[in-house]
Amino acid sequence: MPPFLPLTRRGLLTGSALLAGSALLPHAARAAVGEGVSLSAGPARANLAGTGFPDTAVWAYDGRIPGPELRFRQGDTARIAFANALPEPTTIHWHGLRVPNAMDGVPGLSQAVVPSGGRFDYEFPLKDAGTFWYHPHVNSGVQVAHGLTGAFIVEEREPVVRVDRDLLWLLGDWRLTKEAELAGGFGHPMDATHAGRIGNTVTINGAVRDSVPVRAGERVRLRLINAANARVFALDFQGHAPRVIALDGQPVTPHAPPDGRVVLGPGQRADLVIDMEGQPGEGFDVVDGFYPRMAYRLTRLTRLTYGDEAPLRDSPLDAPIALAANPLPEPDLAGAVRQDVVLDGGMHGAMPKSVGPRGPFWALNGVAAMNHQSIGHHLEPLITVKRGQTQVTAFVNETGWWHPMHLHGFPFRVLSRNGRPAEHREWRDTVLLGPRETAEIAFVAEEAGDWMLHCHVLEHQETGMMAVLRVT
Ligand code: C2O
Ligand code: CU
Repeated sequence: MPPFLPLTRRGLLTGSALLAGSALLPHAARAAVGEGVSLSAGPARANLAGTGFPDTAVWAYDGRIPGPELRFRQGDTARIAFANALPEPTTIHWHGLRVPNAMDGVPGLSQAVVPSGGRFDYEFPLKDAGTFWYHPHVNSGVQVAHGLTGAFIVEEREPVVRVDRDLLWLLGDWRLTKEAELAGGFGHPMDATHAGRIGNTVTINGAVRDSVPVRAGERVRLRLINAANARVFALDFQGHAPRVIALDGQPVTPHAPPDGRVVLGPGQRADLVIDMEGQPGEGFDVVDGFYPRMAYRLTRLTRLTYGDEAPLRDSPLDAPIALAANPLPEPDLAGAVRQDVVLDGGMHGAMPKSVGPRGPFWALNGVAAMNHQSIGHHLEPLITVKRGQTQVTAFVNETGWWHPMHLHGFPFRVLSRNGRPAEHREWRDTVLLGPRETAEIAFVAEEAGDWMLHCHVLEHQETGMMAVLRVT
């Protein structure tokens, strides 16, 4: 299997027919390549839980879970003609991509909602290569939990990292009943005040997968996307040593993950290089260990299984694995302005004063923004900064919970964690904070407009943990 699919711009239909029967491809079932793509959101049915389980009624992009894998090349312009066939309004947010403000998909801030039956044309240049994703920004806790997620891959102009296989795993987390129906109770205060809507069924590209076939001796680039509402993953590739080459789509100095575990909060991505050391017929488990003592613990995510073919090579490929940096503006720390953001609230924490039965339960700097996405009203900015200005922000988590804090528009460098300089000063768009942790970030506010800053545990976002950054 070649690492890149031989699809042409106009070859979408051929491509889907080609891929439909391929057991080797745990990819999204269809990859769309090129500049002009159409996409629709609507009700569908999907087999998530595997043979023996009934299909689940979901909401999907183009009828697929996850949505089609959109593939473009750095420097291209993406044009996506979107049609909303859902029974409610929606938008699409291109998570992690540096898009013009009007294309960012946030109702009330950057566009009007796309009503049921409506259309919207998204168009933006692709400045950065990397692993990104797309999802709605209206009623997100419900719409994402129904399956509206998809991968957005921007290939490097000149690929510098040689791999034998480019694998993509979009991780979904579903709360299903015994009959494999989507469990109700969206936005329940029990979830919203605690860890969010954590599910009981974890899917790789829309299905529970006991094994994923690879070949002994090959080098794999594994692109991981955490598209769950709330679940954090900590993946261990048993007996194998993945190297992290990108985080949130942005290249990083290749390194082994701390403690050997790849931790991914909701919204985050990691690109790994893994050499499939071992003999034909062998393989290894990928296990999760994020919630060691909790009921929703997941033990085994899947198994990478080597086929019977002779090893592709006897010893790992001796070739560079460092990606070329994206053209991001470097923060000017000497000239930075500083504005910290304190996370507060939640169960066992300082809930906002005005708490009602449905919230708000969380606050940023004491301000709880509610229902912004659902009713589309305008939010007053929490932070205002001049265009071109470098901003340094410490996120200070005073709660007892995990929060993946996501900033739209501007990838940021992580400068320090808990007062210690960050080892890789990596670029990210989402930084995961543990209970009582702090993380200091820096970014250049390079585009004017109102941009969202929020927790990517969607039940936290919708009950107060969001704010607006205004760039003037
Ligand atoms: Cu992926 Cu505002 O989010
Ligand atoms: Cu949160």
